[in-house]
Amino acid sequence: MQLPKIFLSLLLFNGCSGLHHREVLTKAIPPSQDPWYTAPPDFESASPGTILRIRPDPSNITAIVAAAAAYNILFRSTDTRYRPSFAVTTLFVPKNPLETRRVSNEVADNGKAALLSFQLPYNTASIDASPSYLLSTNFGLSGPGVTPLSSYVAEALSRGWYVVVPDFEGPTASFGAGPQAGHAVLDNIRAALSSDELHSNFGNTRYAMWGYSGGSIASTFAAELQASYAPELDFAGAAIGGIIPDLTEVFSRPISNVSALIPAGLLGVTAQYPAAREFLISQLKTSGPYNATGFLRTLNFGAIESIQYFGLQNISDYFVNGLEALYNAPELARVFGDNEYEGYHGIPQMPLFVYKAIHDDSNGIATSDDLISHYCKVGADILYHRNTIGGHEAEFINGVPRSFEFLSAVLDGSYSEKYNTTGCTWVDVTVNVTAPATGES
Ligand SMILES: *[C@@H]1O[C@H](CO)[C@@H](O)[C@H](O)[C@H]1NC(C)=O
Ligand SMILES: *[C@@H]1O[C@H](CO)[C@@H](O)[C@H](O)[C@H]1NC(C)=O
Ligand SMILES: *[C@@H]1O[C@H](CO)[C@@H](O)[C@H](O)[C@H]1NC(C)=O
Ligand SMILES: *[C@@H]1O[C@H](CO)[C@@H](O)[C@H](O)[C@H]1NC(C)=O
Ligand SMILES: *[C@@H]1O[C@H](CO)[C@@H](O)[C@H](O)[C@H]1NC(C)=O
Ligand SMILES: *[C@@H]1O[C@H](CO)[C@@H](O)[C@H](O)[C@H]1NC(C)=O
Repeated sequence: MQLPKIFLSLLLFNGCSGLHHREVLTKAIPPSQDPWYTAPPDFESASPGTILRIRPDPSNITAIVAAAAAYNILFRSTDTRYRPSFAVTTLFVPKNPLETRRVSNEVADNGKAALLSFQLPYNTASIDASPSYLLSTNFGLSGPGVTPLSSYVAEALSRGWYVVVPDFEGPTASFGAGPQAGHAVLDNIRAALSSDELHSNFGNTRYAMWGYSGGSIASTFAAELQASYAPELDFAGAAIGGIIPDLTEVFSRPISNVSALIPAGLLGVTAQYPAAREFLISQLKTSGPYNATGFLRTLNFGAIESIQYFGLQNISDYFVNGLEALYNAPELARVFGDNEYEGYHGIPQMPLFVYKAIHDDSNGIATSDDLISHYCKVGADILYHRNTIGGHEAEFINGVPRSFEFLSAVLDGSYSEKYNTTGCTWVDVTVNVTAPATGES
């Protein structure tokens, strides 16, 4: 089956061309089989963000991203139902950290370290497709024209930033569970800041977040939850693109460019709710070509395998009463309510750069405009770019230079010289970074 390129849109690998066998280099073993990925006894009594285990990353990711070192950190966190839990992140140490560089005329870094939390859109209900395990393989995607996600980590490191890449879906691979992801992101920052590996000897550390699409959900929930869950944190900023303020809007369309990810979303969001999971499964057909057996294969799929398997199917066909009835069922409404809507968990306290294609084919622009208006009414500081060019996949690539520009400004302390520090700036831009002459209007 030849899949359109766009089916990769929630994955955001530019120009899918080749899939290679999913093989992790060196000594990493799948999280489901690796005892390191379990909570130590009494982990509940540690405060959120406490480092529970740390080890050098067993893959050769350090060579791939040109880091001085990379560590897996398992830390105390809080799940989507606000119960004690844990999550894993990978901390990358830059070879030439910003805080040790000579302060040039152009970089007002004040000797402070910089830390970026980069949320990848890994979009899976399988723990074995977590970034701490698969980033070294670029999730099994390679070939001409592919920009590997690890290259953005490499770029951040080359700027002298420490980088953390959290497995924010947690040990239950709860794709689509907003508070789960937000808690894990906030606690991964706490863990990194307390780590001896972050040599912030020259003063404080500035830290920021970045995430697109599935990664924007984790980042936006973290931004909303910060004031209540991690009030001691003070982010320099967050760049969030391809935002998805209402995941049910994406997941209620049975045939779309992103519908292949609906099974992972439904299984992910119900992973921590046994009754809702049981109800979900009870609604699957047991015979015919679109049945429970096929649907549940998702539990072993990374996003690429989901796209290969479900890409051109009508997901509604798996359910006895269709997808719409499923979304209206009271058994699931509360789970969706608690997990899939942005704009209800708090007001982002840090400067935001938000970018979205006006013609985004995953969920359109309307709910994004609503969310930004909603934040702006209550005093948020936002630069909102609506790109007239491209759809969901194109905007990931088109947003990279603008994201690095914003993140550099917030992380080197020059933000107030370059951006408005209060209120909302809402701009329609025309950006195509692959066109010969680019420009913003
Ligand atoms: C990573 O390890 C594999 C297998 O050991 C090797 O083939 C590959 O060249 C390594 N990559 C880098 C960038 O070191
Ligand atoms: C999929 O994306 C392409 C490119 O953005 C768009 O032209 C097309 O209409 C989309 N298809 C659907 C079913 O939304
Ligand atoms: C369930 O679906 C799979 C995949 O289409 C098919 O191979 C299998 O025969 C189906 N099972 C039943 C009981 O119809
Ligand atoms: C998808 O499947 C549902 C349920 O079988 C059906 O009602 C709907 O018409 C289908 N949609 C399309 C576009 O084929
Ligand atoms: C961006 O520009 C390139 C090169 O001119 C063109 O091929 C591509 O279609 C443009 N992208 C969009 C989304 O318009
Ligand atoms: C700052 O805000 C003003 C008024 O909204 C706007 O015209 C200007 O473009 C903004 N500047 C930046 C750098 O965003």
